[in-house]
Amino acid sequence: MIQANHISRVYTMGVVEVQALRDVSFTIIPGEFVGITGASGSGKSTLLHIIGLLDSPTTGNLIINGTDISTLSEDQMTEFRLQNLGYIFQDYALVPELSVQENVYLPAKARGMGREEYLRKSEEILTRVGLGHRITHKQYELSGGEQQRVAIARALINTPMILFADEPCANLDSKTSRIILDLLKQLNEEYGQTIIMVTHEEWHEEYMCRMIILSDGVISDQRECQRGLIKTI
Ligand SMILES: Nc1ncnc2c1ncn2[C@@H]1O[C@H](COP(=O)(O)OP(=O)(O)OP(=O)(O)O)[C@@H](O)[C@H]1O
Ligand SMILES: [Mg+2]
Repeated sequence: MIQANHISRVYTMGVVEVQALRDVSFTIIPGEFVGITGASGSGKSTLLHIIGLLDSPTTGNLIINGTDISTLSEDQMTEFRLQNLGYIFQDYALVPELSVQENVYLPAKARGMGREEYLRKSEEILTRVGLGHRITHKQYELSGGEQQRVAIARALINTPMILFADEPCANLDSKTSRIILDLLKQLNEEYGQTIIMVTHEEWHEEYMCRMIILSDGVISDQRECQRGLIKTI
């Protein structure tokens, strides 16, 4: 369960202040696939970074599975991220010098997983995302959709309970986007992972339970999507 309570974020640039988020509150229940949408500059990435613990709110607090994030030290926060959270970015954020498999097991290695296990697990996940035959390849040898599937495999290696995705299909054509979204939906249904995804595309709603709409840093609307809301147990 993610509870965002009265989250605000002000960026200070010299004497200029930009209020990117204003008093944003919501709850996301385990297993939900939630979209965040809104115009460019409305605060979507800022919000995703805050609930993904990549940034801190100026005011307000965030509670994830009963843990008040503001009480964690930097080290505890890093550990919390490695244990519980996975990230997928628009530009894939792969390390070009590393092979596909090395990219995928990096977060597992950082978490202290043994070599045998991270080799086995990374191969298993790459097979799951349809790239079992590509594990020794480098990023430049892959299409955009394949690169994004590597990034998804990397996000899954530590079996996170929450996946964050910031416009993961922005650089992909609609056919490739569907492959990525189908994959995310399957993971959401099979493993009950919570997925929070920023998107500009209205048709992505068919994959989601709920859409949160941001305008100028506030939630202006929320709507149930085609898949419908999942019930709290
Ligand atoms: N590091 C920063 N320093 C100063 N202002 C920032 C910073 N990051 C974002 N902003 C500002 O905060 C507001 C929200 O930005 P944000 O990146 O969250 O928007 P977004 O909804 O993700 O937009 P886009 O759809 O273009 O990605 C914008 O006005 C932006 O200019
Ligand atoms: Mg953004």
